[in-house]
Amino acid sequence: MHSFNFDKPINRLQTDSVRWDKFDPHIIPLWVADMDFASPPCVIEALKQRMNHEIFGYTHAPEGLKEHIATYLAAQYQWKIEPEWIVFVPSLVSSLYSLAKNLTDPQSHILTLQPVYHHLLHAAQHSGRDYSQIPLSTQDYRLVLDPESISSSVKSNSELLFFCNPHNPGGAVYTREELTQIAKVCEQHDLILCSDEIHCGMVYPSQIHTPIASISEDAAERTITLMSMNKTFNIPGAGLAWMVCKNKELRKRAMRDLGTLIPDPQIFTYIATQSALLHGEPWRQALMDYLDSNRQLLKTVMGDLPQLRLYQMEASYLGWISCEQLKLDDPSELFLNHGVALQPGYMFQQPDHVRINIATPKDTLNAALSRIRESLVGF
Ligand SMILES: Cc1ncc(COP(=O)(O)O)c(C=O)c1O
Repeated sequence: MHSFNFDKPINRLQTDSVRWDKFDPHIIPLWVADMDFASPPCVIEALKQRMNHEIFGYTHAPEGLKEHIATYLAAQYQWKIEPEWIVFVPSLVSSLYSLAKNLTDPQSHILTLQPVYHHLLHAAQHSGRDYSQIPLSTQDYRLVLDPESISSSVKSNSELLFFCNPHNPGGAVYTREELTQIAKVCEQHDLILCSDEIHCGMVYPSQIHTPIASISEDAAERTITLMSMNKTFNIPGAGLAWMVCKNKELRKRAMRDLGTLIPDPQIFTYIATQSALLHGEPWRQALMDYLDSNRQLLKTVMGDLPQLRLYQMEASYLGWISCEQLKLDDPSELFLNHGVALQPGYMFQQPDHVRINIATPKDTLNAALSRIRESLVGF
C-alpha cells in the first residue's frame, strides 16, 4: 500500500515559478496549470540518479521509450498503436504552432474551438491561414462540440480542425458517441484532426478517455494526437510531449522543423517521463483521489454561491466558472482584489468566466474559496 501526502504544503515562492512569483506573496495563485504537489517519488529518484552521473551531454530518447508509451496507451485507453507512429517533441504548445503550418496549405482555412486553451487559437492565428472558431454549446454546464456547427463553419478550403479532449478550460471528457460524430464530420469534409489530449491522464471516476484516433480506421488515418506526461505527473517544467500519427505522409509533414527550429527534448525530460510511465501509476491513482476530493469541495462551495456556476468537471484540476451574473467586464479582477488569482476568461475568449486550478493542498484551496466567498458579498 502506497501513501503519498498531497496535504503537505511546499513553499513555491521565489522558486521562479510562473504561477507563484507573478503576484504579491499574500495572493493565492490558482491560475497557471501546474500543481502544488511534489512529483512522484519514482520520478524524483530517477532524476537524482541521472544527476549523479554528472555528465549532461547531448542525449537521444532512451531505448524502448516508444515501446513503453505504446504499452501504456494500450493499458490505459485500449488504444493499440505502433511505436513508430510516435514522434517526440519538447513541448506540446510548440507543436501546435508548427503543425498549423506544416499540415496545411498557405491558402487554406483552419477550424478551432471557442472557448479553448488559448494556444489552440493562437496557433491558427499565427499560421497566417484563414481561421474560424466554432462556438461550443453549453448543455447542462458542459461544453460540447455540435457536429452541425463544424459543418456550418467549414469552408471549401478548410483543411485542419484543432480539437481538445479532455477540454480545457471546459473540463468535458467527450464520450465515444460524441467523438464518433465529430470524426464522421471530419471524414465528410476531409479535415485533418489535431487532437490535444494532454489532460487525458486525469479523468475522474465514471469517465473514460477515448483517443479520437481510436474511433475508426478513418479517424486513425487523419488524426495527429498530442500527448504528454507533463500535466498528470506535474513535470511541465521538464517538458516532453509526443505526437501519435499513423499516417506516414502526415507524420512526415508533422516532423518538419524538428531538431532545427524546434529543439530536441532535453536529457532530464526523457528520464522523468520514462519513470512516470513505468512506475507512476500508484501515485497517479492517489493523485486522482485527492483531486476528486478537492473537486467535491469546490462543487460544495460553488453550490452555495448563486452568483457563480461551475461547469461539470469531468477531468483535470481546472474548473471553468461562469460569472455572467456578476456583469463585470473582467471578474478575475474582483477575485484578485480579494486575494485570489484565477485565470481570466478572456484568455479563452469568454471574458465573463474564470478558470480555477484546484491542484493545491486543501488548506490552500479552503483559504482561496473563503476569499472568493467574501468577494461576492454585495453581489
Ligand atoms: C490543453 C493544453 N495543451 C497544452 C498545454 C501545454 O503543453 P506543454 O507544456 O507541453 O507545451 C496545456 C497546459 O496547460 C494545456 O492545457
